[in-house]
Amino acid sequence: MTDHTPAPVETESRTNALWGGRFASGPAEVMERINPSIDFDRRLWREDILGSKAHAEMLVAQGIISAEDGAAIAQGLDDIWGEIESGQFKFSRALEDIHMNVESRLRELINEPAGRLHTGRSRNDQVALDMKLWTRGAIDDLEVELKALQAALIGQAEQHTDTVMPGFTHLQVAQPVTFGHHLLAYTEMFGRDRSRLADARKRLNESPLGAAALAGTPYPIDRHRTASALGFDRPAANSLDAVSDRDFALELAAAAGICATHLSRLAEELVLWTTQQFRFVRLSDAFSTGSSIMPQKRNADAAELVRGKAGRVLGAFTALAVVMKGLPLAYGKDMQEDKEPLFDAVDTLGLCIAATAGMIADMQANPAAMRQAVEAGFPTATDLADWLVREAGVPFRDAHHVSGSLVKQAETRGCGLADLPLDVMKAAHPALDERIYAVVSVEASVNARTSFGGTAPVRVREQVAAARQRFLDGDGS
Ligand code: ARG
Repeated sequence: MTDHTPAPVETESRTNALWGGRFASGPAEVMERINPSIDFDRRLWREDILGSKAHAEMLVAQGIISAEDGAAIAQGLDDIWGEIESGQFKFSRALEDIHMNVESRLRELINEPAGRLHTGRSRNDQVALDMKLWTRGAIDDLEVELKALQAALIGQAEQHTDTVMPGFTHLQVAQPVTFGHHLLAYTEMFGRDRSRLADARKRLNESPLGAAALAGTPYPIDRHRTASALGFDRPAANSLDAVSDRDFALELAAAAGICATHLSRLAEELVLWTTQQFRFVRLSDAFSTGSSIMPQKRNADAAELVRGKAGRVLGAFTALAVVMKGLPLAYGKDMQEDKEPLFDAVDTLGLCIAATAGMIADMQANPAAMRQAVEAGFPTATDLADWLVREAGVPFRDAHHVSGSLVKQAETRGCGLADLPLDVMKAAHPALDERIYAVVSVEASVNARTSFGGTAPVRVREQVAAARQRFLDGDGS
């Protein structure tokens, strides 16, 4: 998705060759700055040329232009493709946008037949088409990137199905969970992100081409033909809607915003986990940064940036929604403002997904630190109290008290509940016997949680296999 096309070059101010028939003078200088979109829509050049080729081919098939003109147009468009790809094409702000830059160059290359290309279409359906094709491609790219991120998460989860860590609520140690289980939670989120993208893709796949300016066209065009040539399921049913719909951009921006939110939560955990206080995870050198003054530092800058960039991605949805909310049908130039937020959201999200996949794939978990943290939190104190209630008929209020006194002892000794000697246990309550160790160890706690979707290693191993099948071998649904 990176745009390598060269920057536009200035051309002299003059009346526009493509629409300037009724204009006596050129635009004001400020108009030349506010009006053009070529600085950012030049990245639509592939979509623009493909759309024009499909349109010209249809015009020939329908007998609207001659086969010779169609051939000249196709050849000219191929030549322009080559010029842009090789960086030779001169983009011009005076020609406003990618559509007129391409068409104007076509005229230079093939003369008169170029003027027949725009028969039965308008820049309004053309730009809607280009944006839809671009959005579709962006969705396909993001899908691939998200799948790679899921592969990294599943790979780590597989190695840590039995690694016990604290599970948190309110960021306080709550109950032991397995690290693999924790990572698979994110795998699910990114799976839903993929399905949101796939869903948006299905809905956007109707071609606006041939809606013309807004009302359709008197030429006997075949919109079904261009729709299928460009990989659409069908032409959009209503020409007014076709040129003014930007739902597809809003849907991608919304899905991108939700995905960025997921990435940001994971990034926040990476930031926490890599601190001296947690030490749950060590990022590889490739994903850590040092401090220019404090030699001991290993900062998780990439994670912080992923967290920070979520703001931009979420902002794109707001920007787009506000552009669209007051627009009467059909096209308004306001809609030129759809591009920068959407392009930025997609570029930013792609970068964040790739950086996160890299961090996850390379990271080294520290099971010893996780264990220390989980035991320091005495997350099985409730299990101990419940056991006294269940096995010895102790009233819960008393059992709670006994368990609390043992937590205090363990705290003083600097050990976990499971490390307390049996005589200490018995002193707290005579009904406690060696069976309690099968209850208060963190392993026992996670092993017991075998309900579907639970944290027990036996379940997590199944979940790893299932996730691999659904998300990596299957289509992600
Ligand atoms: N650059 C314009 C855009 O991005 C293309 C469509 C212009 N159409 C028009 N009638 N002025 O929306």
